[in-house]
Amino acid sequence: MLLLCMLGCQGDTEPTDMGDTATPDELFCADAPLPTTWDNFGRSFVTQHCQPCHASTSLDRQYAPAEVTFDTEEQSWAWADRILARAAADDATMPPQGGVEEDDRYLLEVWLTCGG
Ligand code: HEC
Repeated sequence: MLLLCMLGCQGDTEPTDMGDTATPDELFCADAPLPTTWDNFGRSFVTQHCQPCHASTSLDRQYAPAEVTFDTEEQSWAWADRILARAAADDATMPPQGGVEEDDRYLLEVWLTCGG
């Protein structure tokens, strides 16, 4: 314990039950509304905001690349890192026309960081 503290104690006064080794993602998820999943969030978010261009069945993909398709939970998870970078970051660039509520961007980050 002493050794761990010498290596990495942050002087964090907030008690967590994860000890001193919690990663930023674990701390983020500890405060997040869970569970946030494909069924209770992801599917409807992707359908509303991304599928107009990123569905395999879209009639007007507006040049969204063919391999960037989010029809299913598995496909969405396969792109999780890029979805977070393009749609959950402060300077989000997807969807190109914007219009996603802050709360939904937050839940997107919760889903793809903490969810299953
Ligand atoms: C109006 C059409 C449109 C909508 C809606 C849209 N996209 Fe895109 N998307 C594109 C186009 C065009 C590209 C290719 C050009 C580019 O990367 O900016 C793209 C590329 C991407 C890429 C691959 C490029 C990379 O950075 O890895 C990801 C990931 C992505 N979009 C995520 C999303 C997500 C998530 C949503 C919903 C929140 C979304 N997009 C909504 C048109 C769209």
